[in-house]
Amino acid sequence: MLKGVILAGGLGTRLYPLTKVTSKHLLPVGNEPMIFHSVKQLTTAGITDILIVTNPEYVGDFVSALGSGKDFGCEFTYRVQEEAKGVAHALALAEGFAAGHKIVVLLGDNIFETPIHPAVSDYQAQQTGARVMLKQVNDPERYGVATLNGNHIVAIEEKPKHPKSDYAVVGAYFYDASVFDIIRTVEPSARGEYEITAVNNAYIHRGELAYSFVHGKWVDAGTFDSLTEAHQILLNSLDWQ
Ligand code: DAU
Repeated sequence: MLKGVILAGGLGTRLYPLTKVTSKHLLPVGNEPMIFHSVKQLTTAGITDILIVTNPEYVGDFVSALGSGKDFGCEFTYRVQEEAKGVAHALALAEGFAAGHKIVVLLGDNIFETPIHPAVSDYQAQQTGARVMLKQVNDPERYGVATLNGNHIVAIEEKPKHPKSDYAVVGAYFYDASVFDIIRTVEPSARGEYEITAVNNAYIHRGELAYSFVHGKWVDAGTFDSLTEAHQILLNSLDWQ
């Protein structure tokens, strides 16, 4: 059984003052609060046991918006990340929830035009290791960037000044239970964060990182421009949501 984790902590400073009174993940995108999209991605893929990681300031807002999960046909668990020390740091809080199960991790500000269900199926068929999703983009320097050699990812660089490819590693990750041991080995990066890219590189070193491509449009809705784009994408793809 796969469990779901949505990471929705962090500060949202790039969207201030929209984030003055609540989390960026609760801002309107399409017809709904942003985080509804991540929830529906998981439930559409048949994942109904879902952990929400948020920051202490806004955890109450998340509970008000999402509730128990009854309205979504799923069950929510909530955890608070006391300090925004990075995506891998937030994910470490999921260890007890995962309880040895494989997990699908979504960054709560990532919006996809189409369901990620096919990648979930790919991962269910995968015996061991992890999986990421790739999308060709015009601005790879904003993201984790994968270097491919044939059918393999040989390295991922976090926000490189001179990207070696235009394949962004998007915010949808698939991990087995060893991810939590890997996170314990990660050191903070130059920007002071426990990076998810360091976790993915550890899987590459084990020869255990597979990938799927994103079909359709994808956006990281962390800036004003990308928030507008996310809005358009979701308004044009309301059919499956
Ligand atoms: O959007 C995809 C990109 O997301 C990847 O390509 C990068 O490799 C990955 O590092 C990440 O980069 P960002 O700089 O965009 O991450 P950001 O700080 O915006 O955080 C992404 C999400 O994770 C956001 O929805 C909030 C959550 N988060 C973030 C931090 C730093 C947490 O829950 N806790 C945190 O401490």
